[in-house]
Amino acid sequence: MYQRREFVKYGLAGMLGLFSEQLLAGNGSTGTRSRKIEPNSLASRSWDEMRDLFPLSRERAYLNNGTMGPSPQPVIDAYVKSIEHTNVSGVYGGGKPEALEALSRFLNCDKEELAITHNVTEGINIAAWGVDLKPGDEIILSKEEHVGNGLPWLHRAKADGLVVRTIALGATADETLQNIRSAISPKTRVIAVPHIPCTNGQVLPIREICALARARNILSFVDGAHGTGMMPLDLHDMGCDVYASCCHKWLLGPKGTGYLYVRKEYQDELRALFVGGYSGLDWHVHEAVPFIDDNYTVGAHRYYYGTQSAAQYFGIQAAVEFQEAVGKERIRDRIAELNEHLFQGLRSLGTTVEILTPEERISRLGVVAFRIRNKDNNAIKSALHEDYEIRFVAESNLNSLRVSTHIYNSMSELDGFLKALSEHI
Ligand SMILES: Cc1ncc(COP(=O)(O)O)c(C=O)c1O
Repeated sequence: MYQRREFVKYGLAGMLGLFSEQLLAGNGSTGTRSRKIEPNSLASRSWDEMRDLFPLSRERAYLNNGTMGPSPQPVIDAYVKSIEHTNVSGVYGGGKPEALEALSRFLNCDKEELAITHNVTEGINIAAWGVDLKPGDEIILSKEEHVGNGLPWLHRAKADGLVVRTIALGATADETLQNIRSAISPKTRVIAVPHIPCTNGQVLPIREICALARARNILSFVDGAHGTGMMPLDLHDMGCDVYASCCHKWLLGPKGTGYLYVRKEYQDELRALFVGGYSGLDWHVHEAVPFIDDNYTVGAHRYYYGTQSAAQYFGIQAAVEFQEAVGKERIRDRIAELNEHLFQGLRSLGTTVEILTPEERISRLGVVAFRIRNKDNNAIKSALHEDYEIRFVAESNLNSLRVSTHIYNSMSELDGFLKALSEHI
């Protein structure tokens, strides 16, 4: 049974308030906010102390970061303060340069390679509709797609007579790479696979996949829903053409935020389907001057347009700074440690528990998926729900369960979960 009585509820207001004041001191009348959380300033905090920065309820162990990452208080404060600022000052906009600066630093790419979106799906749709394809061209997906990557491609394929080929995820990184290699034909134009699928959370060898694609003149479009904030990312080194991600999962940022990375050299080929404010320059309706290629905004800002939320921009900036304050590598290592604890714990429950995430260490990080053999796993999820938030995986008829953990989780939560689960097998 989950140890509710051990939980302290919201006893942190003083400390969090102080943190907020520091954070928001720069949120002045122009709507700007300079860096407020210094890199590595949280590097020596214990994980218990780190947990105290998250107002996340302690009534139930939250083990579903793969769906949504609860924000720490500094991120919430940056967001809320900005909403207040906008509505009190009447100042329009703000935050975009800060968000772009923070994200490009965090992802090792140029600011001009990032379009800020509202979620992963939006980025994937922009890319899937912008790529130049003709009937008969082939796209490679995995057999375990989230609807956010699967449906946009099926939709485009239906509209334009494209052929979607799917590959099985391998039990190792090498096997997955081999499966992709075998699916490539002379008609393959795009490999559009997840970095980390929503089903079993295995980490695909994405750098190698992108290199394989590039060597064959195939475009690599990565569904990076789970990449940002789970591990340090270097998009230039990864070598993909497109990486669509969000800030509301592992980055622990504002909900309804994301980004689309489009490699600089590919931007003139990827058509901007929707355009508006900020995505085009020198446009003239009153003079009937035609809009030409040179009139698109230079850089990825051609892919997003119109008014967005300053609060979300400032929240993204704060989320990046928070991760830099803890340390990207430290976060990854802690996530790996939690994963190992859970993986081995599930193993110790015996063969009734079928673990679906590959054992290979490089192929797993923040997620473990499994199913209890011969049981309705959705019913097990429901039975555990009062004390543990996990995800049922309905995709690809897997009938499995997914546990995803971040730095606010503890080993004792995982032990409690394993014990509770053992009562259902
Ligand atoms: C692998 C994967 N791709 C895409 C998505 C869609 O993300 P969003 O809701 O941000 O569009 C998700 C969401 O869980 C996901 O897990």
